[in-house]
Amino acid sequence: MKRAKIHIEKDFELAKTDDRLFSSFLEHLGRAVYTGIFEPGHPLADKNGFRTDVLQLIHELNISHVRYPGGNFLSGYDWKDGIGPKENRPRRLDLAWRSIESNQFGINEFYDWSKKAGTQIMGAVNMGTGTPKDAGELLEYCNFPGGTYWSDLRKKHGHPDPMNIKLWCIGNEMDGEWQICHLDADDYGKKAVETAKIMRWIDRDIELVACGSSTTLQKSYPEWDRKVMENTYDFVDYISLHRYYENEGNDFDFLASFVDMDQFIHTLTGTADYVRALKRGKKDLCFSFDEWNVWYQHNQTCRDWMEAPDLLEDQYTLLDALVFSSMGMTLINHADRVKIACLAQLVNVIAPIVTERGGRVLRQSIFYPFLFLSQYGRGTVLKPVVKTPVAESRYGKTPLIYPCVVYRPEEGVVTMFCLNISEEEMELGLELRSFGSVSMEKHLCLSGNLKARNTFEAPNTVVPKTIEPVPGVFSSCTLVLPKQSFHVIRFRSVRGSAIQ
Ligand code: AHR
Repeated sequence: MKRAKIHIEKDFELAKTDDRLFSSFLEHLGRAVYTGIFEPGHPLADKNGFRTDVLQLIHELNISHVRYPGGNFLSGYDWKDGIGPKENRPRRLDLAWRSIESNQFGINEFYDWSKKAGTQIMGAVNMGTGTPKDAGELLEYCNFPGGTYWSDLRKKHGHPDPMNIKLWCIGNEMDGEWQICHLDADDYGKKAVETAKIMRWIDRDIELVACGSSTTLQKSYPEWDRKVMENTYDFVDYISLHRYYENEGNDFDFLASFVDMDQFIHTLTGTADYVRALKRGKKDLCFSFDEWNVWYQHNQTCRDWMEAPDLLEDQYTLLDALVFSSMGMTLINHADRVKIACLAQLVNVIAPIVTERGGRVLRQSIFYPFLFLSQYGRGTVLKPVVKTPVAESRYGKTPLIYPCVVYRPEEGVVTMFCLNISEEEMELGLELRSFGSVSMEKHLCLSGNLKARNTFEAPNTVVPKTIEPVPGVFSSCTLVLPKQSFHVIRFRSVRGSAIQ
């Protein structure tokens, strides 16, 4: 059996997690909005047409912010089409996804939905076909108290109080040639700055996110990021990163995706620090990893010009959930610089939650790792010392054991998330002596048939198993982790008890 060791020391603090690390994303794409969160006439829809069965699962995930309305959709979207009396709203071609947009759901409906979901809005302004003026008008509509054209129109549309949307993306994936009205880095940087100026003049309390690279596979990476940072350093708070992984036929390479994601964040942290020095600046540019997930992009088909087509409805396996868990852990392991992260997406479109039109709702395999990271991953991130066997993957030397440790001193609880990507069981020694003596409160595990997935007929095929915790009080222990498995292990420090 292979062996690894993790030494967790309570004073090796990295940073406190920002609640916004546990955010998600809803785009006007496929059935994310229409028949996802919004389905008037569904037996479980409320008076607004919001599906309460979906809202219930979203509450379970305890999501901070939801990014809206896109995505690639954003770059061709006129937000003014989605306000006012519904019978007057235009049906439009959505060029990003070759779909018909009915505009029956817009910013007012999304605001009302967010209140029901208990989430905050991460807004986004169109930098494709949109202008800085459009962006300013949207902000005036949403946040200005009243007495002006756009703010009074909001009141007329049923929202007397400002929406107070304080976090905004300036465009989406503007580095991508697939983007409607894609720009080069300097042109985007300049447009983002002019937009930021207008937006801050309207509401000086907002925070702004400029587009970084949409994947490490872009030829322009990481030059795009350097140029955008140099242009926008004084005007924005965050640079956005996006990354999706898929299984290209080698399970081990797929499981090693976190190595690439870690390197991605590491590289751009270096780039941000370079730009800070260049600007003689005082602030660290931080990151908004506002799209992350497993996504089988090669399976994607775009059926022509339908309303709410079935698009990007990936069905996730246990293996996908393992890779997903390591991506989530990587974000937490960079909590010093990654302040916002959005699981892309939330419902139906590459999502943890899927719905039937007019019917049931289902938790996919990836629902569970997100749930655990959101439940137990908030607190002070610690830097464990890890001794692990390694193997070669497409990303180079790859650790077979990958942990993430979060401490909540006020509760005396330390949680270790841990992934074993080895094809063998792993004996794992844990050293916890800096906490005095501890008891193990909980051990949850995802493991088994890597190809298994949840379906409406068998919804509990991939669910976490509860493992009997190591009994007693101790300061170190040894566990055996099954091959290819994800673990959530919680320890509580026990004052005054003997160390075994
Ligand atoms: O989340 C699906 C798509 O992925 C988004 O629209 C786009 O931003 C990214 O390429």
